Amino acid sequence: MSDPSPSVLIADAVARLSAAGVESPRADADWLLAHALRVDRGRLLLVDDVPPRAAAEFEQMLRRREAREPLQHVIGRVAFGLPDGAAVDLRVGPGVFIPRPETELLLQWAVSTAPADAVVADFCSGSGALAIGLAAACTDLRVLAVERSAAALTWLRRNIAAQPLPIAQRIVVLAADVTDPDGMRRALAEQAEPLGWPVDEPLDLVVANPPYVPTMQDGVPTRVSPEVRADPAEAVFAGPDGMAVIVPMLDAVRGLGRSGTALGVEHDDATGTAVAAALEAAGFTGITARSDLAGAPRLHTAVQG
Ligand SMILES: C[S@@+](CC[C@H](N)C(=O)[O-])C[C@H]1O[C@@H](n2cnc3c(N)ncnc32)[C@H](O)[C@@H]1O
Repeated sequence: MSDPSPSVLIADAVARLSAAGVESPRADADWLLAHALRVDRGRLLLVDDVPPRAAAEFEQMLRRREAREPLQHVIGRVAFGLPDGAAVDLRVGPGVFIPRPETELLLQWAVSTAPADAVVADFCSGSGALAIGLAAACTDLRVLAVERSAAALTWLRRNIAAQPLPIAQRIVVLAADVTDPDGMRRALAEQAEPLGWPVDEPLDLVVANPPYVPTMQDGVPTRVSPEVRADPAEAVFAGPDGMAVIVPMLDAVRGLGRSGTALGVEHDDATGTAVAAALEAAGFTGITARSDLAGAPRLHTAVQG
């Protein structure tokens, strides 16, 4: 019997993934087969037939995805888009948040806002999507990648180390809690200063994609998809109102910034008003709401007063 063609395998996979409730069955089937064949997704059409070893690997991955394991965990990586159309390749798996496409909006804003030779912090860095994206997109800035979770820090350090040296050497990792300004100062002195981070230089720009999903919605616990449940809860949820990290984090931004420091913070589509109020109460000006590609309020930017 001849080896199956990509189109036969994909048609079967799309039916199975649809039945399992996967939101984007065709795209996921393409990604999985491309991964099994070790080809770019765009080159799948050029493949005539799928050798047995690749077909077996595809079947294994398909079963994991049918069980609603996130696509990015199954293939072990995610591409995070840069403003110029390129992307950084990040390793992800259990213990770290999977970067989402909507966060590319925050990166685009930050790249267009960062002054020359900027000193920048990525609060709640996770896999390092924003920190690495910034260092890759702006060749003159330095980034402090701040993260609290031990598991996420392992992924973060691994992803930074995998970048070309001119990118990796401009990123310093800080294991710290962004809701604890005094602890951050101590961590800076202990961890970042020995690595040459300019601790006395105020930050020019802060980006943050903190946990922001409210644990309660309309009086009942928030329900999320199996894929979101694969993200660490501490990366996703932020108290009943979704503001448990954003509000105290603003003190740390102020403590490490100066008048004029720019801040971009991603948030839940239900908390735009609360985020704007928190920014105003903390003395930020130029408070601007921005929507994601789906038109949902997703991002606030502001300037330290
Ligand atoms: C939504 S994820 C964002 C990760 C990454 N910035 C991205 O966009 O893909 C939030 C991250 O914040 C981290 N985190 C949660 N609370 C924190 C805190 N108080 N201090 C520092 N990091 C925190 C979580 O471990 C998680 O990695």
